[in-house]
Amino acid sequence: MKTYTLSQIAEINPDGEHPARFAVIGNPVSHSLSPQLHQPALNTLKQHARYIRVQIEPGQVAEGIQQLHQAGILGINVTVPHKLEALESCHHVDPNAQLMGAVNTIVINNHGETTGFNTDGPGFTRAILEEFSVDLGDLKIIIIGAGGGAGRAIATQCLLEHSPQLILANRTLEKLNPITQTLSQITPNEELEGPRDRLTTIALNDPELEEAIAASDLIINTTSVGLQPTDPAPFPTRWIEPHHLVYDTIYNPAKTRLLRDAESQGARIANGLSLLLHQGALSLEYWLNCEAPINTMREGLKSALNPDIS
Ligand code: ATR
Repeated sequence: MKTYTLSQIAEINPDGEHPARFAVIGNPVSHSLSPQLHQPALNTLKQHARYIRVQIEPGQVAEGIQQLHQAGILGINVTVPHKLEALESCHHVDPNAQLMGAVNTIVINNHGETTGFNTDGPGFTRAILEEFSVDLGDLKIIIIGAGGGAGRAIATQCLLEHSPQLILANRTLEKLNPITQTLSQITPNEELEGPRDRLTTIALNDPELEEAIAASDLIINTTSVGLQPTDPAPFPTRWIEPHHLVYDTIYNPAKTRLLRDAESQGARIANGLSLLLHQGALSLEYWLNCEAPINTMREGLKSALNPDIS
């Protein structure tokens, strides 16, 4: 499937095809699985609409969104590195997306007015419920790599869901400062009292990381460690115990070193495919105001990742 650039916007709606109505923007974006997630859903919902990929250069997001609107686009997904620029470019921003510092879903009305949302956070809530049959708000959580964009969205969601413990771990501790400053706004003061603060931070090389992991129910990896099949796990996996739930936001490879080790330690594991699925389903729900055909979307993703099986 073709990836368009802004200079090719005039070509997105050739005669004889269903009109392009939805798009994912990013840079690079040709690897994005969003079309394989959304196109089958649009077909199932009889929308007669295409979902396309558009590569946009940094600094051109606001202009790009308006050009896409003029070309007939009604809804946009935003991927790296544009989630902050998208937030700054929208006319209106959902308060939770503001807390997360990122917009991954844009709804455009008939007048070209844009509203930005973040479905990564609520998508994660749905992913955890589906994978482990538990509510995020019932779990003591540690996020490994909370300094990145995905980590921040998930951390915010955990606090919005009132998780009783949230430990943010990062290689570079200072990178957590802006996140904790924002998150302290949604952590009422009285909840910060007690034997352990509800929200704490720790460096990945801190000797107390082992204890922090032992005290957690859910361990989430949001670092990029694991994207290469030869990558190690982001922390010593001998610390994982059978009571742990381990979620890796990486889905390709399907089982990172972290997940393989966690499984052999007896923990329950899940990869980021469910997050990709549910954040996409929520985007579709914002655009079309109807329930997303989740199984169709799941099948679309599966066949994109395993084309030989489908
Ligand atoms: P995003 O696209 O989510 O913003 P990112 O900026 O690439 O992602 O960073 C993702 C996370 O991976 C960060 O927390 C980063 O840690 P730093 O803040 O210290 O840079 C983490 N990360 C990347 N490589 C890592 C490594 N080799 N060991 C530990 N953490 C790593």
